Amino acid sequence: MDFKLSIANEIVSALKAAFDNADLTADAIAQVIEIPPDTTMGDYAFPCFRLAKTLRKAPPMIADALKDAIHAPFLKEIQSVKGYLNFYIDRATYAREVLAAIARQGEAYGGSDVGAGKTVCLDYSSINIAKRFHIGHLSTTMIGNALKNMYEFHGYKTVGINHLGDWGTQFGKMVAAYKLWGNREEVEQGGVDAMVSLYVRFNAEAEEKPELNDLGRAWFKKIEDGDEEALSIFNWFKEVTLADARRVYDILGVSFDSYAGESFYNDKMDRVIDELKAKNLLVESEGAQIVDLSEYGMPPFIILRSDGATLYATRDLAAALYRKDTYDFAKCLYVVAYQQDLHFRQLFKTLELMGYDWAKNCEHVAFGMVSFEGESLSTRKGHVVYLDDVLNKAVEKALAIIEEKSPDLENKEEVAQQVGIGAVIFFDLYNSRIKDIDFWWDRALNFDGETGPYVQYTHARSCSVLRKAGECAAQPNYDGLATPEAQDVIRLLEQFPGTVADAIDRNEPSLITRYSVGLAQAFNKFYYENRILDDDMGVRAARLELTRDTKQVIATALRLIGIGAPERM
Ligand code: ARG
Repeated sequence: MDFKLSIANEIVSALKAAFDNADLTADAIAQVIEIPPDTTMGDYAFPCFRLAKTLRKAPPMIADALKDAIHAPFLKEIQSVKGYLNFYIDRATYAREVLAAIARQGEAYGGSDVGAGKTVCLDYSSINIAKRFHIGHLSTTMIGNALKNMYEFHGYKTVGINHLGDWGTQFGKMVAAYKLWGNREEVEQGGVDAMVSLYVRFNAEAEEKPELNDLGRAWFKKIEDGDEEALSIFNWFKEVTLADARRVYDILGVSFDSYAGESFYNDKMDRVIDELKAKNLLVESEGAQIVDLSEYGMPPFIILRSDGATLYATRDLAAALYRKDTYDFAKCLYVVAYQQDLHFRQLFKTLELMGYDWAKNCEHVAFGMVSFEGESLSTRKGHVVYLDDVLNKAVEKALAIIEEKSPDLENKEEVAQQVGIGAVIFFDLYNSRIKDIDFWWDRALNFDGETGPYVQYTHARSCSVLRKAGECAAQPNYDGLATPEAQDVIRLLEQFPGTVADAIDRNEPSLITRYSVGLAQAFNKFYYENRILDDDMGVRAARLELTRDTKQVIATALRLIGIGAPERM
């Protein structure tokens, strides 16, 4: 039952009866019906102010007249307060209807099929070769992963793309350094760290011997020309980096459908250049070829350097065309730090100037920076916090807490893994993505705060109640859910589908993260204030049903943001 729409229908009839007015449809009325911030003001409220003009009456009078004209069994009470009509839904009816909707949809509750037949491309994580995964990569990886889950929950087909940073002169230097000082075992054992040291050494020595830079350029040229030796070393660097990254992705439970990165577009550059030329968008400026965006208040988008080399921008243009051709996306999302805001505005504007109206379906999903216990992460100052170190430490700390709180738990390691990793992910996805994040251990792992462990713990608590209850065959008596605490939980359960839809609209996983905290808090209040295992079997059955549904919705919310929901902890 859609209460909002039912109330809107009642208002339509009342307008007819009281004022002989038929100007508004139920849909139009439903649009202005509000949900009061506080249940004491009703479950739904209809402001009568906009009607004042057409009806030529003061809003409080309109509200009074409508109130008298409405009689519906599902409404327990209607109040006319200062031009508002406040509707109170009959508690038991409300509970029964919401829980029936969840029962009908089962695990799919909160999802939909609005995306059926549509594809969303998501560009996230998009790491750079020969660089280690640091905590700054966490946001793009986890926001992208959450969005992927959310879109799939709404029936979209998704394509997760790791647009690897695997092209640029630095790779020539790296190969040169390897040829000069490196050896196979070192890189095989040291992985990315060994590559980074080679690169650092190269740059240090090039300060004294600038001719080294020519050597680096020469090796890069060889990579570009497809020289066998150069390519095999470079591709091997790539494999080593990816093996490292995949280890972290496995821990995080993240995967991709494509690893087509910058180098993938090497043979797709001509099309971009030719098209830009044909459309008269390419102009020369200081030897380089650019797209002039001054008319739109942006600096030029540089397409070809003066030596003819393509750039990050060129590759992103090629990638967008390729993705549209290959996947025919309804949306293409780029989950990238806000520092690249200008780049994406330039990219989308250029696509638009090329005549692609689908440019409007491309979106930069920007996010803020991560600092760690008050310190920013600067590679230059040597203060880098590596993601796998953070994850390992999180699991270790979670295990220590579990050892203390539940020494008898059977699968402690497995649970510690879910709780520790979950805490880090939850912390990352808790605030709206554009905000900068300062990561603190005690805040992320606090079992009583607005944290992943708190929500997981609430889930485990509901599982434990259900285990203890066993079978309860009685017919539920929904009067048992008329208490304010139970009603708050029901109200939140009812809001879950809308929350997911909003989160998708705004590409904002934090709406789901926060929702899960609100639901957990409401459930805990219900748990403390109401006896779930009541002696009245009908009341007990209704309260158990509410417990089961809460457990399910918490688990779904956590799954969407990429976190596990252990049954015991
Ligand atoms: N590798 C880039 C970086 O680390 C991010 C790439 C984002 N995706 C894209 N299509 N530009 O800055």
